[in-house]
Amino acid sequence: MSYKVGYFVGSLSSTSINRVLSKALISLAPDDLEFTEIPIGDLPLYSPDYDSDYPEVARKLKDTIAGSDAVLFVTPEYNRAIPGALKNAIDWASRPWGENSFDHMPTAVIGASIGVIGTAVAQQNLRSVMAFCNARQMTAPEAYIHFSPEVFREDGTITKPDTEEFLRTFMKEFHEHVQRVLTVLPRS
Ligand code: FNR
Repeated sequence: MSYKVGYFVGSLSSTSINRVLSKALISLAPDDLEFTEIPIGDLPLYSPDYDSDYPEVARKLKDTIAGSDAVLFVTPEYNRAIPGALKNAIDWASRPWGENSFDHMPTAVIGASIGVIGTAVAQQNLRSVMAFCNARQMTAPEAYIHFSPEVFREDGTITKPDTEEFLRTFMKEFHEHVQRVLTVLPRS
């Protein structure tokens, strides 16, 4: 069974290490996962004033999530939390009230950092946000990636077999998680 995965890169940096990680993950994922990026960089700051008339860019965000079977977050850690741009995108997607795009959505989170704890705190922060959004989160394996340019090439190829195998397993587990969730909670 093939699944459509919408993925967020939580960084707006033109040299984002998390974008590099996203390329690696896509290349290592099982063949029957099909990936579409959910862009966040052009969204205005969310306000409830928009609820009665969402701008085109925010409608597109919600449409892309609605067209996905699952969502993957690949995010940096900013000041021990998720970046504001990603939180803003989640706020847009979670509203208007009663139209939460993440309701029952299978999700997973992963992130890369130049620091040794590899986005662990940001990931806990994101898990708590997605719990409130009623997402069906993959709880294990966890993946806190300490980024090194010697291990990750810009095109997403990985030079260290252990790391490659770990990320391949992460994506295989994500595939199984999506399958399990959608067996019980098929998307309408
Ligand atoms: C950081 N960085 C960082 N790293 C970390 O491990 N924990 C943290 O709390 C922070 N905080 C933080 C705040 C801000 C505003 C910036 C710009 C950076 C460093 C971060 O890991 C590094 O910049 C990564 O390259 C960010 O990922 P992207 O944007 O390259 O994908």
